[in-house]
Amino acid sequence: MNIIETNNLTKSYGDFQAVSEMNLHIKKGTVYGFLGPNGAGKSTAMKMLLGLTRPTSGSFTINGKKYPENRIAILKNIGSFIEGPAFYGNLTGEENLEIVQNILGLPHTSVLEALEMVGLTKTKKQLAKKYSLGMKQRLGLASALIGKPSILILDEPTNGLDPVGIHEIRSLIRSLPEKFDCTVLVSSHLLSEIELMADDIGILNQGRLLFEGTLDELEMKAVEMGYPTDNLEDTFLAIVDADNKKRGSLR
Ligand SMILES: Nc1ncnc2c1ncn2[C@@H]1O[C@H](COP(=O)(O)OP(=O)(O)O)[C@@H](O)[C@H]1O
Ligand SMILES: [Mg+2]
Repeated sequence: MNIIETNNLTKSYGDFQAVSEMNLHIKKGTVYGFLGPNGAGKSTAMKMLLGLTRPTSGSFTINGKKYPENRIAILKNIGSFIEGPAFYGNLTGEENLEIVQNILGLPHTSVLEALEMVGLTKTKKQLAKKYSLGMKQRLGLASALIGKPSILILDEPTNGLDPVGIHEIRSLIRSLPEKFDCTVLVSSHLLSEIELMADDIGILNQGRLLFEGTLDELEMKAVEMGYPTDNLEDTFLAIVDADNKKRGSLR
């Protein structure tokens, strides 16, 4: 069953289509990797799913509920992390989460659980402004998952992290469907950052979905199309490159 489905979802800014007739199929209980180079339209698509920006045309359904009629019901079930989450630097990590806890009407144990899940228990009394980038990303993740939402939308959560930090976040994300039965939509501009955690991937370029399926299916497509397959990052880049060449003059 698809927990998120989009139907020709489109966002235009003037003549420019940031997201173009996109049809995503995200299965319940999976990690879906949303992959595309900078400017491909990942954040714009995610913002539409979160009701942060209005589609120009097309529609989507989340948890069987259609946007925009059920906007509030849809948002109740989603935790998110979009483009560098904002915090109060003069509050501690724990205090920042307490704000989210109070908004969502959760018990204080949820704050401690969320801190534990992202590995910030020991540093929960430090001011957020003293946190390293990796710790800030983890605090952002903690505030996204504190309410145990059925869907998590994470926009480039590994951006700017070192390999150890990437590995930690990746293991955490991978464990979430099992931990509380959630579905994760996670974006990245690097295949290597999501290939080990995603069940399915969608490859986006210039606002269009070029591929959707498993990594095995991507490899099969690459063989079929004569793209390199010894390294999937190269496969991804070759697909994007071919698409750019095909449409180069259009945009
Ligand atoms: N508010 C906006 N007004 C005009 N263009 C925008 C706006 N937001 C995004 N864009 C453009 O839409 C394209 C897709 O952006 P974005 O969704 O942020 O891509 P990604 O997250 O994949 O890097 C980019 O070319 C970007 O410049
Ligand atoms: Mg983005």
